[in-house]
Amino acid sequence: MAAAAKISTKTLKLNTGATIPVIGLGTWQSPDEECYSAVLSALHAGYRHIDTARIYQNEEAVGKAVAQYLKESGTSRDKLFITTKLWCSEVQDPEKALKESLERLNLEYVDLYLMHWPVSMVNRGDLFPKTASGTTEIIPFDKWNYVETYKIMQKLYKAGLTKAIGISNFNIPKIDYLLAQSGVDVVPACLQVEIHPYLPQFDLVDYCTKKGILVECYSPLGSTGAPLLKDPALIKLGEKYGVSPACIAISWAVARDTIPLPKSVHEERIVSNLKVVDLADEDISLVDAVSKTTAKRLVKPEWGVDIFGDSAKL
Ligand SMILES: NC(=O)c1ccc[n+]([C@@H]2O[C@H](COP(=O)([O-])OP(=O)(O)OC[C@H]3O[C@@H](n4cnc5c(N)ncnc54)[C@H](OP(=O)(O)O)[C@@H]3O)[C@@H](O)[C@H]2O)c1
Repeated sequence: MAAAAKISTKTLKLNTGATIPVIGLGTWQSPDEECYSAVLSALHAGYRHIDTARIYQNEEAVGKAVAQYLKESGTSRDKLFITTKLWCSEVQDPEKALKESLERLNLEYVDLYLMHWPVSMVNRGDLFPKTASGTTEIIPFDKWNYVETYKIMQKLYKAGLTKAIGISNFNIPKIDYLLAQSGVDVVPACLQVEIHPYLPQFDLVDYCTKKGILVECYSPLGSTGAPLLKDPALIKLGEKYGVSPACIAISWAVARDTIPLPKSVHEERIVSNLKVVDLADEDISLVDAVSKTTAKRLVKPEWGVDIFGDSAKL
C-alpha cells in the first residue's frame, strides 16, 4: 500500500490552553545564514513552529526570518509558535536571559521558554565556564539548582514574557522532584527530550501524559547525519508507504501525540519533513520494536554530572 504523504496541520493542546503545531523546525547546528534561509523556507512551506535556543547562537537569524515571513505573507505573529531555551550558565537570572533572547529574536514574547538542561553552570560571561583543570564549572546542587531556576521561570510566564514554560533533558526522578517542591505551582507545559525509534522513552512519555505535560522529540532522525535513516525497519516501512525513512520516523512521532522537531538546512528536506503518512497500528508497533534491536542515546554532553541517572540531585 503506497500512500502519499500530506503536510501535517495537526496541533496539540498545551496545559495552558494554547495550541502547539505538532511538527517544529529544529535549528541546532544551523549557523546564521543557513538558519535564516531554513526558517524562511520552512514558514513558506507551512511550518508554524520553530525551535531555537540561546546556545544555538542563531536567535537573531530566526527573528529576522520570522519578521521577513510575517511581512511577506501578512500572517500575524500569533499564528506562529516560537520556542527558545534558557542556557545553563544563565540560570541564575532567567529574566535577563529571556529579555536578551527576546531582543535577539525581535519578539515581544515567545510561545515556550524551556530550561535547556537541569544543570546550573557558573556565570562568568562564558557559555561554557571552565574550572582551572578544564572541566565545566557547575554550581553544586545545594547552592543553586533547577528548582530555583524554575521558580523564576514561573514569574516570566505569569508576566507574559513567555506564553508557556517547560523543561528539557529531565527524566522522571527530576520531574517528580521538581513538582514536589513548595513554590512550584505551574506544571511544565512541555518536556523536550531525545526521542526517536532507537530511544522511544515509553515510560517517560506515559508519565508526562498523566501529568498533562506534552513531550517534544529532539533528534527525531537520530541527530547529526540522521543515522536512523539507514535503519532496515524504517527503510522497509518507507518502501511500503512510498515515502522516505525520515517520513516514517516523523509520522511515528506524530502518531504518538509527541512533537518531533526535525532539523534541516536543505529546502527539499525541510519541505518533506513536514509531510506525514497515517501509519497502520501494526506498523506503529514495528517502529516501537526497533529499539529492541538497536537502543541508543545519541546526545550525551560530558559536563561531569550525571544528567540521565536516577538521582534527582545532580
Ligand atoms: N533540548 C535539547 O537539548 C536539544 C538537543 C538536540 C536537539 N534539539 C532540538 O531538536 C532539533 C532536532 O534535533 P537534531 O538537530 O539533533 O537532529 P535531527 O533533526 O534528528 O537530525 C538532523 C540531521 O538530519 C539531517 N536531515 C534532516 N532531514 C533529513 C532528511 N529528510 N533526509 C536526510 N537527512 C536529513 C540534517 O542534515 P541537513 O541539515 O544537512 O539537512 C541533520 O544532519 C534540533 O535542531 C534542536 O532544535 C534540542
